[in-house]
Amino acid sequence: MPDPNPAALAFLETRRSRPAKTLSGPVPKPDELRRLLTVAARTPDHGKLEPWRFLVLEKPALERLAGTLETKGAELCIEPEKIVKAQAEYNGATLAVAVVASPKPSEKIPEIEQTLSAGAVCMQLVNAALAAGWGANWLTGWASQDADWRERNLGLMPHEWIAGIIHIGTETSAPPERPRPDLDAITEWIET
Ligand SMILES: Cc1cc2nc3c(=O)[nH]c(=O)nc-3n(C[C@H](O)[C@H](O)[C@H](O)COP(=O)(O)O)c2cc1C
Repeated sequence: MPDPNPAALAFLETRRSRPAKTLSGPVPKPDELRRLLTVAARTPDHGKLEPWRFLVLEKPALERLAGTLETKGAELCIEPEKIVKAQAEYNGATLAVAVVASPKPSEKIPEIEQTLSAGAVCMQLVNAALAAGWGANWLTGWASQDADWRERNLGLMPHEWIAGIIHIGTETSAPPERPRPDLDAITEWIET
């Protein structure tokens, strides 16, 4: 027999991200964040490879990263408005967690499955933060997609990459609901 958890299901039915630009302090204290990260790491992981890790980015680190964007943006020929937007994203944040995808060599587990697990960690962290009453948003952005930027500024190894930069903070305004998929358009019931 099913053993329902109506509160958990209701949370999942109504959960939604809070745009990073609408988040402010306070942010989770270290012990509170450790709990959220523990939940995030409780994620399906074929082969128990732990192909991911966390970088907790505190305010000074976020400001340092913002300071790297003008030079890197020019080098990558990023449009000036996008550079300004990214700077505002980093400068405006108080706390973010970079979920680093760190694929492990394996003969059994394809890298794509390790990638999926890293994405699931991001989702689990967003949901843990929301369930704890924080606002949270899963971002990436052009800088995080640049291997040189990641290596120089976050110390990532060449085979590592950023699955998400999860902003966590206090919601200042409730976002409107956004359109959700038409279930019938994306679902096929295969009976035989
Ligand atoms: C891998 C990934 C990367 C994303 N990167 C960005 C980003 O850089 N900037 C942005 O505005 N939204 C980005 N988004 C979308 C936001 O997370 C958005 O808030 C989310 O899709 C809202 O979904 P929800 O309402 O179901 O929580 C990204 C989403 C994913 C899955």
